[in-house]
Amino acid sequence: MKFFVDTAEIDEIAELNDLGMVDGVTTNPSLILKSGRDILEVTREIAALVDGPVSAEVVALNAEDMIAEGRKLAKIADNIAVKVPLTWDGLKACKVLSSEGNMVNVTLCFSANQALLAAKAGATFISPFIGRLDDINLDGMEVISDIRNIYDNYGFTTEILAASIRSVNHIMESALIGADVITAPPSVIKKLADHPLTDKGLAAFMKDWEKTGQQIL
Ligand code: E4P
Repeated sequence: MKFFVDTAEIDEIAELNDLGMVDGVTTNPSLILKSGRDILEVTREIAALVDGPVSAEVVALNAEDMIAEGRKLAKIADNIAVKVPLTWDGLKACKVLSSEGNMVNVTLCFSANQALLAAKAGATFISPFIGRLDDINLDGMEVISDIRNIYDNYGFTTEILAASIRSVNHIMESALIGADVITAPPSVIKKLADHPLTDKGLAAFMKDWEKTGQQIL
């Protein structure tokens, strides 16, 4: 499973990238706002830092302008994935931009039917938003599972990029279902390492080690 980090904060990306944990990055207009950075500038920096796909989102609402924005974003670096919303115009833009050889990430997906359309429009990635579905008492993981089944039934190569991840369980369940990629905030990725028995075991080892009076260095 590939790990993308869902942030536009360079320091956070660099820290995880140094550990080999970053297979790509996703950004969106809200994350760009949070970073306080210029979209073209920060996207260029991220794309230079990371080897994998870096999603940069268009903000136009009509297909023609989305395509123009997408072409501009794609020129930033070879590893840019143009992110378009799952609207009819977004699907038109997806078709054109992917036919031109660009990676396209179709975002704001909330149903398996939407994901089916994105695959047919040539999307490289489909981003179903798990957390936002859970927020309104729907089952985000069920949507991931339905998309997996549909894509496998017909051999679609669009990668399932489980997004809007809020917890470590979202990551584990996505992995069990067979999502190709998860994108999560760095804080959630770091929490994967946590376990109370690890902390308890380490404390006991340290206590016993102290009693030996030995040193390694
Ligand atoms: C994905 O590409 C989105 O940027 C992101 O996962 C949205 O997550 P949120 O619902 O926590 O804002």
